[in-house]
Amino acid sequence: MDELVALAKRRGFIFQSSDIYGGLQGIYDYGPLGVELKNNLKAAWWRAMVYERDDVEGLDAAILTNPLVLKYSGHEATFTDPMVDCRSCKSRWRADHLDKPVCPNCGSDDLTEPRPFNLMFKTQVGPVDDGSSFAYLRPETAQAIFTNFKNVVDSTSPKLPFGIAQIGKAFRNEITPRNFIFRVREFEQMELEFFVKPGEDEHWHDTWVAERLKWWGEQGVNENNLELYNVPADELAHYSKATVDVMYRFPHGLEELEGIANRTDFDLGSHTKNQGDYNIQSKVDPNTDSNAKLALQDLQDKTWQVPYVIEPSAGVDRGVLAIMNEAYQVQTLENGSERTVMSFKPHLAPIKVAVLPLKRNHEGIVDKARSIKRELQKLGLGRILFEDTGNIGKGYRRHDEVGTPLCVTVDFQTIEEDDTVTVRDRDTMEQQRVHANELADFVKAQIT
Ligand code: GAP
Repeated sequence: MDELVALAKRRGFIFQSSDIYGGLQGIYDYGPLGVELKNNLKAAWWRAMVYERDDVEGLDAAILTNPLVLKYSGHEATFTDPMVDCRSCKSRWRADHLDKPVCPNCGSDDLTEPRPFNLMFKTQVGPVDDGSSFAYLRPETAQAIFTNFKNVVDSTSPKLPFGIAQIGKAFRNEITPRNFIFRVREFEQMELEFFVKPGEDEHWHDTWVAERLKWWGEQGVNENNLELYNVPADELAHYSKATVDVMYRFPHGLEELEGIANRTDFDLGSHTKNQGDYNIQSKVDPNTDSNAKLALQDLQDKTWQVPYVIEPSAGVDRGVLAIMNEAYQVQTLENGSERTVMSFKPHLAPIKVAVLPLKRNHEGIVDKARSIKRELQKLGLGRILFEDTGNIGKGYRRHDEVGTPLCVTVDFQTIEEDDTVTVRDRDTMEQQRVHANELADFVKAQIT
């Protein structure tokens, strides 16, 4: 983990947020390469969840959330972690993270009884700070999918089964953020709510577990580093009938990368008035609360049905950490020297191709390199970098360390002889001459 954290900072992937003022605990910023990696991971998820299917629509909802949403979702009452205080050094801990009832900071066993601590952040809305007008920063993106259920259904007329996908920020006031970007207070989620007929939910739950394992494999996560965990009944979230966690062997241990829950009709039901069956609805105030009918009508028998929902919910930041961990390698070369390589899958690599002029400031070579960069950039594969440092060997090493799959070098042979360039492969370190006219096809075939 220490090596990854150091590389992430040195090469511009991830920084401690507000660093120049001492940081803010559990909050991180993504740097020039981190933003590319993260965007590429999110794009891969969106492609698989929305573009490659015809039964899922996308959504991008607001972060600030009406408190009533999180009241009826059950989060106000139950979205808590058990907290203990150390009476001796005044530090606070998550009770379920302590191996024994002893303060990890000072060793004292004088701890308070565990008590629930609500993880939601609140913020004032509007100019009057009297506590009467506030919103929550959403603790999961899912709730806005449920509250927009009718909008999406009315505008797209889907038939069951169908899904609504969303990627976005979520906030939790974690008692003890830790392990770099693994447990943080501001993070991103990639969530799908997949609505199904009641009775078909268990089949779809199994299907989504298999789909998600396959997808993580396609992102370069070794299946030996993944395990499934059937969450026991006493650990289930308040909305869940069954949850399977996809666990990943992170540098600090085997922990949750993604949760795949069977949320039944809990949420749509909770946000729906007059359905009768839900205790929580007896508290609805008809003047202020939801009156949406979050249900689908059967076109044949005209009955209304609240769909069940299967929810694959993955953390973007945990995904980035897993993918960096999988990609990180220190290799000893034949000449005894070491090289650090991030062997990202090409579609995730922050820079796809680096175009390097052999000689710095040489007009002919630099112009040719710039024009190659422009042409490759038009392919729409992601970032193509022109880099005029003049030291090709160092350039290769640097691009190995940030995971650039291909380096293209423009030299005298290119401009004076045959219009070929050297293409150097990150993984094999092999170099071959490719004609400039064929470079776009060559690159497209490698970076998919
Ligand atoms: N909508 C369901 C839901 O939010 P969750 O298991 O609480 O379920 C889903 O969160 C995923 O979000 C987790 O598997 C994890 O990847 C990510 N996540 C949750 N809390 C996090 C935190 N404090 N820091 C980073 N990622 C987090």
